[in-house]
Amino acid sequence: MQNAFTIDNLTYKYPTAKADVIKGITFDVRQGEIFGLLGPSGAGKSTTQKILTKLLDGYNGMISYFDKDLKKQTNAFYEEIGVGFEMPVHFGKLTAIENMNYFSSFYKNKANIRELMERVGLWEHRNIKVIEYSKGMKVRLNFVRSMLNNPKVLFLDEVTNGLDPKNAKIIKDMIAEYKQNGGTVFLTTHLMNDVEQLCDRIAFCVEGTLGETSTPRDLKLKYGKREVKVEYHENGATEARTFELDGIGDNDEFHSLLKAKKIETIHSGETSMEDIFIIVTGVGLK
Ligand SMILES: Nc1ncnc2c1ncn2[C@@H]1O[C@H](COP(=O)(O)OP(=O)(O)OP(=O)(O)O)[C@@H](O)[C@H]1O
Ligand SMILES: [Mg+2]
Repeated sequence: MQNAFTIDNLTYKYPTAKADVIKGITFDVRQGEIFGLLGPSGAGKSTTQKILTKLLDGYNGMISYFDKDLKKQTNAFYEEIGVGFEMPVHFGKLTAIENMNYFSSFYKNKANIRELMERVGLWEHRNIKVIEYSKGMKVRLNFVRSMLNNPKVLFLDEVTNGLDPKNAKIIKDMIAEYKQNGGTVFLTTHLMNDVEQLCDRIAFCVEGTLGETSTPRDLKLKYGKREVKVEYHENGATEARTFELDGIGDNDEFHSLLKAKKIETIHSGETSMEDIFIIVTGVGLK
């Protein structure tokens, strides 16, 4: 599979800053995958997205977009990408539909605005001024905005931040469908639920450097504890025992427990993505 983006030894310094905020990162985003850039607050996730979307230039290192130097991309590049900004940006005094019609007018390729707004539950609120929208409504509208040009590559910066579980699921389902239809997604997040449900591969960004790149499953296997915890009911209380996963098929104690007791739960000792985040980045979630 071709790379949508190939990033080689990228460094970046904000003009007003003294030091680099991106310190030589190398990774690729494959066409057709959902790539997640994770990391603590201030790590450089949004900065990386802004560089890849050509909002920031003056970087060092090489970035290719479908094998062509990003610096040589023309405005046609913007026709192909969709961008969900970290902070929803809309005209507050215009209605939601006026905002969407306005942003859609920039593009040759136009998605069906009604379909998108219906899907995220905003069509019935289309004639309300955005200033009167709740935070979650603005976040959903921000997502619709990112999809207005049927993009080939979608950038999503903290796309479900501030959404209730039902609306977060709607957006995640739409992202998964977008991928199924051939789309490529670069997303930044610190919400580990999103990562497990969506991302094919992830990389951890820590203070402008890139740590491990892996699949969520491989990370869980790598950091997971190889054990099984059984909770069972005995004498009116819940008791628990933990067994080594290796050799469990021949573990008589495990088998007799399963036969003799009323089992309540059985779990393999998977390390949660939250734990892995903390182990890999060396910091807690913000
Ligand atoms: N316009 C700017 N000028 C100078 N420094 C900036 C600017 N924007 C961000 N920075 C700095 O660059 C670093 C990386 O910021 P960035 O917004 O990329 O982090 P992030 O990983 O997206 O964090 P968060 O999870 O909080 O969104 C931070 O130290 C931040 O203070
Ligand atoms: Mg950010």
